Amino acid sequence: MAVELLSNVADHASLPSSYVRPESQRPRLEEVITDATIPTIDLTSLNVVAQVAHACSSYGFFQVVNHGVEVELMREMMEVALEFFRLPAEEKAKHYSDDPAKKMRLSTSFNIKKETLRNWRDYLRLHCYPLEEFAPAWPSNPPSFKEVVSRYCREVRRLGMRILRAISLSLELEEDYLVKVLGEQEQHMAINHYPKCPEPELTFGLQAHTDPNALTILLQDPTVAGLQVLKDGQWIAVNPQPNALVINIGDQLQALSNGRYKSVWHRAVVNKDKGRTSVATFLCPCNDVIINPPEKLIADGSSAMYRSYTYDEYYKKFWSRNLDDVHCLELFQS
Ligand code: OGA
Ligand code: NI
Repeated sequence: MAVELLSNVADHASLPSSYVRPESQRPRLEEVITDATIPTIDLTSLNVVAQVAHACSSYGFFQVVNHGVEVELMREMMEVALEFFRLPAEEKAKHYSDDPAKKMRLSTSFNIKKETLRNWRDYLRLHCYPLEEFAPAWPSNPPSFKEVVSRYCREVRRLGMRILRAISLSLELEEDYLVKVLGEQEQHMAINHYPKCPEPELTFGLQAHTDPNALTILLQDPTVAGLQVLKDGQWIAVNPQPNALVINIGDQLQALSNGRYKSVWHRAVVNKDKGRTSVATFLCPCNDVIINPPEKLIADGSSAMYRSYTYDEYYKKFWSRNLDDVHCLELFQS
């Protein structure tokens, strides 16, 4: 099965037909806005909460700087990710699986069993919390993998909690509201690798989707662009910014904020002469948590936009589908 990994081939001469999107679904790269910017928030500034409120309600995406995750650790994390995908095919084959229920697996595209067309991506998906439970089973090659990724996971979790507190305040809720309501959150990681692609205008690294979890923190290769977000019907490039991390609202924060904050569509495109790597950290509500907007957000007479559900139910629904054009949350409207 592992022969399916894109990263096992050094140079792909042509794009296999299973990756070619029909004309109406191609990325139209020439129409992407490359000189606009999503907000950048310096977490040491005085009015962080107001900036978070603006970024979450207008974009659903922002970058953070002075975020407390050491720059050297970000570099090490990126390096170990690159090294992993450079390993020989036999070594990577040990971790290969298409089963989304596995707590550690290497796969390709998005959801091989459900999709009809492929995405130009390989990815390693790890459950990361609690670390003591999962890290021992992670790859032991590259030799520094477990140690570096564990340190990164700890720091990034701390940042995630800090951002959830700022988001609570920005919704005029108690500072700990979201952290409490989301429970002992799971933490998943996707180490994405998008190799050089012979025909980037015909395919995606990761087609448009919203993230099913609560909050996502993305570390991007500082030298290659690829992430794009949808804003007012147009795709905007999220250009990497030195030492920054990208934050986005996931479906669960859209539901918990009763639609005030949007889990926006985003996608990754690929490049002809450069591969790109990214590391996404997903904070996910505890499986049995019931997702419901706080009383305070519906007290003005507005009704709940979504019916109550458990995260377990939502997550199963998400992985039972392809990434198609309906927002998963729409299936939960009340
Ligand atoms: C994701 C994602 C974007 C990227 O993994 O959910 O949106 O730039 N990744 O890799
Ligand atoms: Ni995403």
